Amino acid sequence: MKPAFVLLVSAAWSFTGAQHYYQGLMDYLDNRLLAIEAHSKQRRNIDLLWRRQWDRMQLWHEQSHRYHTELLDFKKLTDEAMVGLRNHHKVMFKDLEGAALLVDRVEQDMDYVETQTSPRACATQADKVVEQGAWRLEESRGEEEEEDDWVELRSEVSDCVEIISGIRSVKILKRVGGPKGMWTRDPKSSKVYVFNGTSGDNIYQFNSVQDFSRSPGVASSRQIRLPSDWRGPGSAVFGGHLYYIQQEDDADVQVVRYDLLSGSVTDVAMFPAESRAAVYGLNSETVADLAADDQGLWLLYAAGDGEPNIHLARMELASLDIEQTWDTRCPRENAEAAFVVCGTVYVVYNTRPASRSRIQCLFDVNDMVSSEEAPLIYFPRRYGAHASLKYNPEEEQLYAWDDGYQIIYRLTMKRKLLV
Ligand SMILES: *[C@@H]1O[C@H](CO)[C@@H](O)[C@H](O)[C@H]1NC(C)=O
Repeated sequence: MKPAFVLLVSAAWSFTGAQHYYQGLMDYLDNRLLAIEAHSKQRRNIDLLWRRQWDRMQLWHEQSHRYHTELLDFKKLTDEAMVGLRNHHKVMFKDLEGAALLVDRVEQDMDYVETQTSPRACATQADKVVEQGAWRLEESRGEEEEEDDWVELRSEVSDCVEIISGIRSVKILKRVGGPKGMWTRDPKSSKVYVFNGTSGDNIYQFNSVQDFSRSPGVASSRQIRLPSDWRGPGSAVFGGHLYYIQQEDDADVQVVRYDLLSGSVTDVAMFPAESRAAVYGLNSETVADLAADDQGLWLLYAAGDGEPNIHLARMELASLDIEQTWDTRCPRENAEAAFVVCGTVYVVYNTRPASRSRIQCLFDVNDMVSSEEAPLIYFPRRYGAHASLKYNPEEEQLYAWDDGYQIIYRLTMKRKLLV
């Protein structure tokens, strides 16, 4: 910064210097003309008058020539000053750019340190976990005597005790299909299902992740044609059943349960809201998002166009009956995807244009984990943005679709309850 400042000062100095010189030149010129004028008055002779005129013209010529040269010099000087200023500007711009980069790097480092150390969350969470664990054990002992009271608690507190503590590893399997889509693995059958694009009536089935990985494109898959279109990359497959969102042009949104073995629709349920708004702000094609596990079918949706938060409904796997709904208090804005682990919704946020995806809000239906306590978890920097994230409870990993790449994130978990 210091040399640049000196340069600026010297440029300014030479600028004002030139201006002074120019002014001086003008004064001199004036004085000279006055002198010549005075001198000429003394000459009465016509010849002399003529000569005087001649001299004057000569002088004018000379002076204007000099004046012109001076002007050129002055222009050169100002040009030089301008170049100097411009270079100085460039240097300053470079400095600013460098500073911006540095800030970005520091920010990344901070992110990294944050994910590595997962601040505050661990300690306070562990404390809370111990408390909850003790409480739960106590309640369990009272099970036989107070059957009625216990039933209510049991439906609230599940046996599932895991929360995510970080992302252990990433595996980029391959690139099949368009920028948006989803893929998932049935935790019960190990079969893999690929949903290319944002809607359609066909899906691709592979016998295993390995089969999918080895397959050239979708050539070796079994293609399944559905009786209606799935809408958005928000389907779920669990125990040989496909659950998908159906939205015919003028009809309401529905959840369809499709038996993959028999190839027939076994149930259709109305959506819990009239809303047509997409659930995630950054993925407008995801009308709603389904997740299935042993606890049931989870539906993440927007309760209305003006409703800013992601809502959650738990449905029965077999009947699609809605058991309960919640407002997760996690905003839809800038949300990219979400998934459910052990009754806890993890919402992944990003920016537009895409930067680093991060789990920044969570909601536990059992009220044991809160966003404030949970660590901020960053995904590794990727190609673009996640079109979908599907959690597999058996493997504790996420099946992600990112700009046509099929990626697996292996998660590290810790226990909610210290049993
Ligand atoms: C996947 O969808 C994209 C459009 O999103 C399309 O261009 C491509 O052909 C599809 N690929 C397969 C294998 O269906």
